[in-house]
Amino acid sequence: MKLSRRAFLAGAGAVISQKAFGRVIDLSKENETARVLTARRASASILPSDLASPTAIWGFDGTAPGPVLRAKAGERLKVVVENGLDQPTSVHWHGIRIDNAMDGVPGLTQEAIEPGGRFFYDFRTPDPGTYWYHSHDRSWEQNARGLHGALIVEEAERWKGADRDIVLLVDDWRLTKTGAIEDSFGQMMDWSHGGRLGNVVTVNGRYKPRIAFRPNERVRLRLINAANARIMDIGFRGAATRLLALDGMATSLAEMPGPVRLAPAQRADLLVDFPASPKPLAMTIETRDGPVAIAEISVSGEPVRAEFPEPIGLPAAGLPVSSDLQDARRAELRMEGGAMGRMTGAMHDGRMMDIRSLAQTGRVWAFNGVAGDMNEPLARFERGRTAVVKIRNETPWPHAMHVHGHHFRVVSRDGGAILDPVLRDTDLMMPDETIEIAFVADNPGKWLLHCHMLEHSASGMMTWFEVA
Ligand code: C2O
Ligand code: CU
Repeated sequence: MKLSRRAFLAGAGAVISQKAFGRVIDLSKENETARVLTARRASASILPSDLASPTAIWGFDGTAPGPVLRAKAGERLKVVVENGLDQPTSVHWHGIRIDNAMDGVPGLTQEAIEPGGRFFYDFRTPDPGTYWYHSHDRSWEQNARGLHGALIVEEAERWKGADRDIVLLVDDWRLTKTGAIEDSFGQMMDWSHGGRLGNVVTVNGRYKPRIAFRPNERVRLRLINAANARIMDIGFRGAATRLLALDGMATSLAEMPGPVRLAPAQRADLLVDFPASPKPLAMTIETRDGPVAIAEISVSGEPVRAEFPEPIGLPAAGLPVSSDLQDARRAELRMEGGAMGRMTGAMHDGRMMDIRSLAQTGRVWAFNGVAGDMNEPLARFERGRTAVVKIRNETPWPHAMHVHGHHFRVVSRDGGAILDPVLRDTDLMMPDETIEIAFVADNPGKWLLHCHMLEHSASGMMTWFEVA
């Protein structure tokens, strides 16, 4: 049975059958708190109107990024995702230690949401922090067209360390001269190299927006790199910057001497003190030719205060610490492939293929000699035990390795132990680098481990593990 959005919002008391797992959810009981999020085509003013026409995008509720979703730590978030596109979709709640059935991975945790269909996501958001949601079906196309947004989990008790809290979602678009999304999806050139890099970087969906602050204002800036593939070094020169959190998890409030490096999918919460006197500043990303402004920042008006108080950090995340590394369950992941790589062939569809036939099937990378086949997990981890995965990047490319459902610590890099590792859900690996990540495998289910350069994961850099 299909309901119109209006009927749903009016709380018609109807029962909607959900194809996935044959679950039937009575929305009449849920509709007071469930929010509808519709993936659909829309038009957006990415570039200024004197430069280009509006861009045809795909967005949640018709905007790119989609609406900022806010939840409280420890509470439930209920979102009915409606698919108004003409291809299947799904939503992944990136970084949340989520109930596996709500993780949004078609073929692993749910069936894709067919056009005209809907899926009722209902999950607890255990940890405060900056997260995001994005399409996890044909994500290399759907994300690039705009299907993502910020998901903010607020501290259970209000954190009073900043005057304002601002989300800055940074994206990278490949646009034509007239402002249309370049229809060059699936190009092997992108897939075997650094992924689909764009030519227009936006902040909250706009090219070079202006953001206004006040003198001596202290702001929590929640940066999200929502790009398909671009690694960004984001800076605020002229304002004192401290690092509050990475990938949603509190850090030690260290002062940032320069820009913060965010691989695709990574987040950083910065505590930024704007200067006492009015002046123009810029939010920048580093390029080969030096820093380039991606947002104009003005500091003007009445000062907020005469002097800044001592900064305060965020409450530490209450995640279990993987201390028993000695007797952890271990797995190894060898990454191969890509242009100029050493891979000569890999398993795909149950048979060995040389590099050329692999490329013809759209596979150019492999994990442990397998190019993206998902029938067997990388590992099965015992629930509650520490898991250590040693990841070797044997490719000449950087990769943003992401684990679903768990935050991990990078406990060694190229053989050197890391003494005070921070919690992460995504780590940027350099060419020929080896890391060991550790986490407590306490979340039962089937979880993806993949490169978050979305063209890479689509062409072989994806596997999963099971916690049971
Ligand atoms: Cu942002 Cu598989 O995830
Ligand atoms: Cu990659």
